[in-house]
Amino acid sequence: MKIDGQRLLDDLYTLRKITATPGQGVTRFSYTQEDNRAREYLSHIAEDYGFSMETDAVGNIRICLQQSKGRIIIGSHIDTVRNGGWLDGVYGVISGLEVLRTLTDSGIASDVMLMIYAEEEGSLFGSTMTGSKFLTGKYTADDLTDLKDDRGRTLLDHLEARGYYNADLPLTMDFSSVDRVLEIHIEQGPVMDTEHLQIGIVDTVFGMHVLEIAFSGLGNHAGASPMVGRRDPMSAFAETALAVEKIARDAGNGVVATVGKVSVSPGASNVIPDSVRFTVDVRSNNDRYTTDTVQRIRETASKIANTRTVDCTIRDVAASSAIPLSRTIINEMAALAEDQKLVYRMMDSGAVHDTAMLAPFTDAGMIFVPSINGRSHVPEEDTAEADLIRGTQFLMDHIARTISQAQGRMRDQSSKIRSKP
Ligand code: GLV
Ligand code: MN
Ligand code: MN
Repeated sequence: MKIDGQRLLDDLYTLRKITATPGQGVTRFSYTQEDNRAREYLSHIAEDYGFSMETDAVGNIRICLQQSKGRIIIGSHIDTVRNGGWLDGVYGVISGLEVLRTLTDSGIASDVMLMIYAEEEGSLFGSTMTGSKFLTGKYTADDLTDLKDDRGRTLLDHLEARGYYNADLPLTMDFSSVDRVLEIHIEQGPVMDTEHLQIGIVDTVFGMHVLEIAFSGLGNHAGASPMVGRRDPMSAFAETALAVEKIARDAGNGVVATVGKVSVSPGASNVIPDSVRFTVDVRSNNDRYTTDTVQRIRETASKIANTRTVDCTIRDVAASSAIPLSRTIINEMAALAEDQKLVYRMMDSGAVHDTAMLAPFTDAGMIFVPSINGRSHVPEEDTAEADLIRGTQFLMDHIARTISQAQGRMRDQSSKIRSKP
């Protein structure tokens, strides 16, 4: 079954055009006008194809054939980071849609469902994979009001403003009839581009732990306060940011740590700040490495605060475990890549993905395509058209094989039943 590569690219280009900020990449936060425009675009396609499209209480979308049981889920997200790229998430969504369209065009009444997970990036609440955390019960009703954006608006406020929240709808999903969950994504790192790979098969999705550290000291006049005796939270922040880099480097084992968001109060050139608040994002493919690194960062920040006589508070914003994906799916994908003589390899994902959240409930697998120069979460994020099409065709072929193997098993079973004396 051949996908329509041009249709895939046209949808991606259209979505980029309708929600991009010229020259500054794509900013499509969940529950905004931009998000809504993308949802409307998808709903027109779903309508043209006669697919059903449902939105749940937290804004996750399910698209499938009317009678589908959703045994195979293909999913990704349409939200972005601020000034992000045009492919992170949306490539997986349009690929999934293309698979659904190709199956339908071929007259196959499949049990494939496209899932669009809400608020994957954590752009609003600092915690990634919000939609899938609700589906899997990691987040519960309390989190609807515990999750707050920078302006103090809760997730529930956002959901009610969009009309998604409905107390009668379940927040969780029943995965008992789901056979596998799949996601195709750009790699977002340099491995595939550097090694000239065509297909990446994801082994383990990194775990992550995000801290928010706040230092508060004594705000004062920048000119009239002598250097001796200052209690400057900015200096404590600067020292901690460098320590974070060193701790992660010393940890080795592929551990990464990033200070990505800083807010300074009051933030004026001629005022010693009274407080500095910043995030630290720690990741690795082994929870022990992540936990040890987080612990060292906590201790170091407290020690620096002590020495500099500023106050220090540390809050856990979010955490998720490192998740190895399904061996069965990895082996099936490797066999397919061998058969098709593709240049591929197994690799870990430093980015987190909703599919990993679902992995404890069903078989989960992921495919990567190369990111040019390994850039992502920035406007320069890009992938060659040929790689985008190849990846989606590979997903299509994997699903076609899965469906035909399942049909073969069913035929075998029914012939065994018929042949029983
Ligand atoms: C999401 O893309 C993340 O890995 O932070
Ligand atoms: Mn993504
Ligand atoms: Mn992302």
